[in-house]
Amino acid sequence: MATFPELVFSGVQPTGNLHLGNYLGAITKFVDLQETHDCIYCVVDLHAITVAQNPAELTSNIREVTAAFIAAGIDPKKHIIFNQSQVAEHAELAWVFNCIARIGWLNRMTQFKEKAGKDRENASVGLYAYPTLMAADILVYRATHVPVGEDQKQHLELARDIAQKFNNDFAETIRNVVGADAYFPQPEPLIQGPATRVMSLRDGTKKMSKSDPSDYSRINLTDDADTIAQKVRKAKTDPEPLPSELPGLAKRPEADNLVGIFAALNKQSKEDVLTQFGSANFSTFKSALVDLAVSKLGPIGAEMKRLQADKSYIDGVLSDGSARAKVLAAGTMQDVKDMLGFIR
Ligand code: AMP
Ligand code: TRP
Repeated sequence: MATFPELVFSGVQPTGNLHLGNYLGAITKFVDLQETHDCIYCVVDLHAITVAQNPAELTSNIREVTAAFIAAGIDPKKHIIFNQSQVAEHAELAWVFNCIARIGWLNRMTQFKEKAGKDRENASVGLYAYPTLMAADILVYRATHVPVGEDQKQHLELARDIAQKFNNDFAETIRNVVGADAYFPQPEPLIQGPATRVMSLRDGTKKMSKSDPSDYSRINLTDDADTIAQKVRKAKTDPEPLPSELPGLAKRPEADNLVGIFAALNKQSKEDVLTQFGSANFSTFKSALVDLAVSKLGPIGAEMKRLQADKSYIDGVLSDGSARAKVLAAGTMQDVKDMLGFIR
């Protein structure tokens, strides 16, 4: 089997309200991986338009995600930060993958079913084809590792299926063009730790989400200290004190969620948190959580606001990152065209 150099790729949609789930499920992982891997982090604006967007808000949300990446500690000089629409090869490879993926595969995607809701006839074709574009994002760099939250696992599996079918369907021309038995790697999802699925502060059975109408359901990265404190204090809990051991969190989704958030923010395990707070009541635990959340998120929110005000700096990071990404993506597209039999 061919081996591929390790490369990290991930993306975040510029759809506003970046929250603690995005931060703990994805962005902190992006930051850590910089130490061990070459990393490419993308603001996926083409994915954002699978549902209607206001153009001025979209522009501002692209800058917000870029600012969040940098404020959280991603170094745009050592690694690559860019926005998807500046590298046309993503959309080009996505078209090829639309012809590789089967309708039956896409029909199984739960995110489409959730987002399209009851009125499926009226969903955009782009929303349906969303996962093939995501596969193209990753594979146009032949990336091997993809840090994401739990909700993206099924899309990663689809990307693996597309890579494998491409490698099989074009085995002969792959051998001719690059002399290997596979062209695309099987990208591996990196979904680990205590906060791979952060839940709503109002309902421990629902995912924390950008689109929840209640702002009290989530902590936004730009919330100030008072807002964070209020949201944590109002977070739903149950009447029991915290358990001392993990099994005690079963069937207590709100307690489990807050413990997971604390653990992830403090880079601990949930067991460690329970060792410290077992038998504490929620008011004690929530006070500690407020202090921790404010100390970790406060500086990031402040730096995001400062960076967002400097549009020319942000736009410069994106155009520099896009130029560097484009060189890599263009090489892949040339190979793919040769493998498909196109003339270039
Ligand atoms: P999105 O905002 O949908 O582009 O998501 C960006 C990243 O954040 C993806 O890796 C998601 O899996 C992750 N993510 C979004 N919501 C949550 C959540 N509630 N808990 C953990 N990770 C999340
Ligand atoms: N679909 C991802 C989300 O909504 C965003 C995304 C787009 C992505 N392309 C990607 C994540 C490639 C990882 C790799 O969260």
